[in-house]
Amino acid sequence: FAFLVPNLTTYLNAFQNGCEAFQLPSRCRVSNFAAVHYMEKKAGFRTKPHSSFLPSSAVDLEVAASVSEMHDESNTKTSSISTFEKFDYLSHWYPVIWARDLPSNRPTQVTLFDVNYVVAKRVSEDSGPKKQEEVVAMLDRCPHRSAALSEGRLTAQGSFQCAYHGWSFDALTGRCLDIPQVENKRSIRISDKKKRIDGTAVPAMVHQEMVWIFPGGGLEQALKAPPPPSVPEIDEDGYRIVSSVVRDFPIDWTILLENIMDPDHGLFAHQVEYFDLYSASSESPQDVREETRHGGKGWSVTSTTKAVNSILEGSLQEKNKNTESEIKPNTFLSKERKEDDIPVATTTFDAPNLITMARRNPGTGKTSFAIAFWICPSGTGKSRFMSANVGKVPNFLKIPRWIGHVAIMNFLDQDTFLLATQQKHVLGKESELVLQYQKLNSQNEIKERNINLSEDTSHLKINIPVRRKFYVYQSPTERLSARVGAFLDATLSLVPNRLKSIQNLGGYEQVMQSSLISRSQVLDRFTQHTQICPDSMEVVKNCIQIQSACKVLAALPLLVKVLAFGNSNMVTATASLLHRCIINCNGFLAKRPVGIMGFWIGAAILSFLANKLEKEFYYKYTNDYRENDMDKIPSLWKDTV
Ligand code: FES
Ligand SMILES: [Fe+2]
Repeated sequence: FAFLVPNLTTYLNAFQNGCEAFQLPSRCRVSNFAAVHYMEKKAGFRTKPHSSFLPSSAVDLEVAASVSEMHDESNTKTSSISTFEKFDYLSHWYPVIWARDLPSNRPTQVTLFDVNYVVAKRVSEDSGPKKQEEVVAMLDRCPHRSAALSEGRLTAQGSFQCAYHGWSFDALTGRCLDIPQVENKRSIRISDKKKRIDGTAVPAMVHQEMVWIFPGGGLEQALKAPPPPSVPEIDEDGYRIVSSVVRDFPIDWTILLENIMDPDHGLFAHQVEYFDLYSASSESPQDVREETRHGGKGWSVTSTTKAVNSILEGSLQEKNKNTESEIKPNTFLSKERKEDDIPVATTTFDAPNLITMARRNPGTGKTSFAIAFWICPSGTGKSRFMSANVGKVPNFLKIPRWIGHVAIMNFLDQDTFLLATQQKHVLGKESELVLQYQKLNSQNEIKERNINLSEDTSHLKINIPVRRKFYVYQSPTERLSARVGAFLDATLSLVPNRLKSIQNLGGYEQVMQSSLISRSQVLDRFTQHTQICPDSMEVVKNCIQIQSACKVLAALPLLVKVLAFGNSNMVTATASLLHRCIINCNGFLAKRPVGIMGFWIGAAILSFLANKLEKEFYYKYTNDYRENDMDKIPSLWKDTV
């Protein structure tokens, strides 16, 4: 507990002042790291810079084509390409794990832009109101021999200790505190001028129930960066996060982002109608507005449309004209409503990774539904999906979290394999464009500027128009997708560690020749969700225990029968206690054959249900499920061609 107490109030007061000075919302709970470093800054100390992550200024090698021309129609207020140019992925906070999923006082690995970090929730041993929690994070690499710190432990004092040779590090500063094999530690500190024995601490905080880390440097950079984006409803009175979900996907985060903000696929990929409320049509067009925030460091785009069944109602009226078997949309919003009562369906993308979808009453502004998605950019070809339903639900109405997880896992399975098939083409195309670009420039411009692409590409800014060249936007709802696509095209080359991994894919042809990962790998719920969700893991363990208990209990009557077989069923005075017990049990059971049958049936049903539930947490969505789902489409969307 000692590590939490010293000068905490002073630090927090100082940090509060810091928040005001830098306009970081004070409700964000930044770890003591922030406070400590704010004090260091005041005192003139230098915090250790994360040299490999320092944001570098963009070098324009190509004047990017103006993507603002795309879908630049009257009701789309587009911003020019220059708003993207200032975007720096490293100058943003990223949510990496739900705070409730982070075990106390144990290191956990998270990944961001293909770099591993170790995060931990340090909890004091006190219970009750005095109990204190804070999150800390470091690069997941021990400076001694590069073993992962996440494989180690937290000491009783709250330091990260490497499991290999026991070096310990201050989790707030990264400073090496102990090298067990060295007696005179002072001499090491004095001789280690370059501080090579220190690890790299990373700013961390809890905000809206998630752990956020800042990969772009120390506190100084973190305070200058835009604060973590908020979902307004989460902080409003009466609202709360009703369910929080996490799942790691072998799908590139850019592709998952586009999938989530696309309501047009709900009818087909998920066979549901309510996505349609966010779709646009000629009768309820989509309005798209962009905003450059935080002095050009942040960018957001919002689409709004009337929450009506846009695709279904118009098309079905037409299709139902000459047919007997009429299909009617059946969502509650398809009923006749007064114009003023129709909620506004809003989708907001807060770059780089938050999508909020909500339905709000146009008159009162009250939210009837809100869901937020944070797509953590774990790396090229992967993502961590985190979502939260936000609602005005009384606290006593708490549905076990795993129930929501089972439902949403089934839902997510429906289109994730589709994304895997799409990803091959999109990443292949991105790779081809990067290689083409490098080839074009290798002899002239790059040479002139004396830049060697094969050595370091991280600071180069190039436009990779993969979406502009490869996607075909046709739907009236795709104005939003087109703008987000333009943002991605313009900024992908600045995504940390991306250019090299995309380059390594070897171009479109090479990617096409490689085999697609299997459905069971893409949809492997156990590694993607169950293992990282304590609530689901507990259900799995309970299911296994219930099944084992059922087997043992069901076998007991048989065991008694076998043991009693051949023994006299007369209990004599000299019989052993065990013998008496067996004979008595056997006699008891022999008189209750119906009871035993009932017991067996009950155990079999319980075991069957536990087995069924357990299976929900492993790979489930086979081709049979897909075919079954495809057969549901005609009940929503009439085949006419
Ligand atoms: S690698 Fe960490 S202590 Fe040796
Ligand atoms: Fe779960």
